[in-house]
Amino acid sequence: MGLPGEKALVYPPRPELLPAAHIPSLSHYQRMYQRSVEAPHEFWGDIAKEFYWKSQPTGPFLNYNFDVTKGKIFIEWMKGATTNICYNVLDRNVNEKKLGDKIAFYWEGNEPGDSAKITYRELLHKVCQFANVLRSQGLKKGDRVSIYLPMIVELAVAMLACARIGALHSIVFAGFSADSLCERILDCSCSLLITADAFYRGDKLVNLKQIADEAIQKCVDKGFSLKKCIVVKHLCREEVGAAGTCSKSPPQKKLCQEVQEKKTESSKRLRPKTPWNPAIDMWWHELMSGASTECEPEWCDAEDGLFILYTSGSTGKPKGVLHTTGGYMIFAATSFKYVFDYQPEDVYWCTADIGWITGHSYITYGPLANGATGVLFEGVPTYPDVGRMWSVVDKYKVTKFYTAPTAIRMLMKYGEEPVKKHSRKSLKVLGTVGEPINPEAWLWYHRVVGEERCPIVDTFWQTETGGHMLTPLPAATPTKPGSATFPFFGVVPAILNDSGQELEGEAEGFLVFKQPWPGIMRTVYGKHQQFETIYFQKFPGYYLTGDGCRRDKDGYYWITGRIDDMLNVSGHLLSTAEVESALVEHPAVAEAAVVSHPHPLKGECLYCFVTLREGYELSQDLTDELKKQGSNRQMLGSRQGEHR
Ligand code: WTA
Repeated sequence: MGLPGEKALVYPPRPELLPAAHIPSLSHYQRMYQRSVEAPHEFWGDIAKEFYWKSQPTGPFLNYNFDVTKGKIFIEWMKGATTNICYNVLDRNVNEKKLGDKIAFYWEGNEPGDSAKITYRELLHKVCQFANVLRSQGLKKGDRVSIYLPMIVELAVAMLACARIGALHSIVFAGFSADSLCERILDCSCSLLITADAFYRGDKLVNLKQIADEAIQKCVDKGFSLKKCIVVKHLCREEVGAAGTCSKSPPQKKLCQEVQEKKTESSKRLRPKTPWNPAIDMWWHELMSGASTECEPEWCDAEDGLFILYTSGSTGKPKGVLHTTGGYMIFAATSFKYVFDYQPEDVYWCTADIGWITGHSYITYGPLANGATGVLFEGVPTYPDVGRMWSVVDKYKVTKFYTAPTAIRMLMKYGEEPVKKHSRKSLKVLGTVGEPINPEAWLWYHRVVGEERCPIVDTFWQTETGGHMLTPLPAATPTKPGSATFPFFGVVPAILNDSGQELEGEAEGFLVFKQPWPGIMRTVYGKHQQFETIYFQKFPGYYLTGDGCRRDKDGYYWITGRIDDMLNVSGHLLSTAEVESALVEHPAVAEAAVVSHPHPLKGECLYCFVTLREGYELSQDLTDELKKQGSNRQMLGSRQGEHR
């Protein structure tokens, strides 16, 4: 993404961060980096000692094969060691580190004024209670649980409770459609679904339970009966008192009444009551009342599965990326600590949804492992106005802020005034993730939002990598707008040409990684063959990212975008095959071809070409229907303030 005119721009680290910084210079980074790649077992072994392990590895600290020509691909970090990630991010902080009274999350609802907070001790108790609930429902280690919730505290509670009992969570972003949820439930045959009654995203009501019910019915049609569904009463939580962890607040009560009133007026979609199937549905608050706040964790092998998270696949079906316990834990924790230069007094806010990998690693596991205070935001950047982000920053005195280029580009449209209306003086580090950031957006973020005093960390990584791969470190790396700069600890990038040769110096080609880092995915759930084919077949001995990349004369890496049939719309990956197969399911469509096209705000957008069957004619209605059909397999809306 480097523009010729921008090449000269280099932003040195800001001196004010240096005194307390974990990594205060480029040479310090280089020394640590060298050790991390030359002696990974020592480097990560030292880090692992900071965590609680019930028992130590029984074999080598790292064992792997990256070369398909030499046999099965596998990656094992600390195999045989036992631990529990929930214990490490909660109990260890409460008991050993005495952080019980520290705020784990400030929860900021969609509606300004609707907020709550939860301490580490309270979070631990809620998680133990829900872990006990899960066990009482017969859940055990290795079972899969689908979680389809908005950005509420119960989402973090549910995922951590799964981790506590060794069940694998599969979180499905609450903007996904019934088809997408059904597909994900079926793929990993979940024993249980956790969802909520409804929520507001901006001024749009999402009847989540109704969509979940549609998904459950679709599963039944395909021969799979979900056995249990736990429902959080979120929107109408006033009715059950202070359900979950959220405060009773007047705005929230108003919303709940609105839902009831709107129903009596016009919309048939809005139901006064949550649709209910007594055979499988259970209320969260009823199960939680009386559940014990103590729960012995399940001690898991470092290589036991922790979660599955689906990401678009070029085959047209989403892939269930599987992450395991030990390696993911130390990688998410360490990257969070260094990339945001985490300090104990920080208030950290990542605007992503927990339904994406960014939320898994950098809202839940990474920050909590460090004992950080985070903001959990239910809303969108444009509601009630386009200054919402900065009003939340001021409200909680956010120091480290992490968002997506698409959100920055969207806010740029509204000019500087909505930003400057708010102080933002608490901000220290600004992060971006999800897609290449164009230098113009980078410079606006730096100049307007960060007032030229906040370093920008442009973090390149993937669902598959579990954590940051290429990224600046705030007090160490001179940055160039649009470049994700250098590799994180343990990461060895290379650029290959078409025939698989490694290119040296200034070069452009396929971005690959040469050796495993602890957070790398271990397989595609239930489809190991696919894992090998997608990531290791093309260039034996390397992990293939699917991204193009350029290295400049100073060794800086610049991601140039996907080089497969995936495209990145507003920071979310889509595959052209996925949309094509959704389109041809429509009776009017004989053939469909989908291509990517640059878009000023979303980065890329879709152009869909269809050939209609005999007897159909293109009309506005049919176009609208096809647009709906195309997005059916995908999302109902994104959280970056745009709806697709
Ligand atoms: C793209 C998101 C350029 C890239 C964490 C990658 C980026 C895909 C950046 C993964 C960045 C992510 N610069 N491109 N800083 N971050 N990407 O799995 O194409 O949702 O392969 O993970 O997003 O998207 P995913």
